[in-house]
Amino acid sequence: MRYNRMALDLGISEEILRENFLQSTQKPGDLMTVNMSEEDAKRWFGTVPPDLSLTARSRGADWIYTFLRSFYADEKSVTGWNNELFADVAMPHVLYQQQDSMSDEQYEQVVRNLVNFLVYVAEPVKLIRYGIGIWVMIFVGIFTILAYFLKKEYWKDIH
Ligand code: HEM
Repeated sequence: MRYNRMALDLGISEEILRENFLQSTQKPGDLMTVNMSEEDAKRWFGTVPPDLSLTARSRGADWIYTFLRSFYADEKSVTGWNNELFADVAMPHVLYQQQDSMSDEQYEQVVRNLVNFLVYVAEPVKLIRYGIGIWVMIFVGIFTILAYFLKKEYWKDIH
């Protein structure tokens, strides 16, 4: 996913994009990358954090929503956290400060926004696809009517 595509789709101005998303060496058309190396990730977490760009499609929005709301403190785990949905998860509860600083409803809203964003990232073209889909259905509908009358015409003398 490229930064400028995301900004365009989500109505984010270039100024906000530069201030909040881009590091000093990045430009709006750059691909989103990760700074953590795979070796470091394995050493720190035991496994490499997954690329989340398609997770909303593989796991589904509801799964991620529940996952992010199911962390609990667990002294036995290396990170100090565990997850009711994903037993012995290697990911720490990265949103715990947010969760602690707000009401349950507010945290749910934060998670909902985050999941919506991941759903968008997993398929930015979805709304365009829906738009085209309607025209395809209209075309198929009209074509079916035409094909039906054509068939009647061809078969009218055959008994
Ligand atoms: C808001 C930010 C984040 C979100 C929404 C998020 C979401 C997720 C999700 C949905 C999974 C499960 C993916 C799957 O198995 O299909 C996952 C796994 C994981 N995440 Fe995160 N994550 C976030 C930040 C982080 C950060 C900052 C780290 C570490 C620096 C991290 C480390 C991991 C690891 C190691 C796993 C693999 C867990 C395992 O296989 O046991 N995540 N994350």
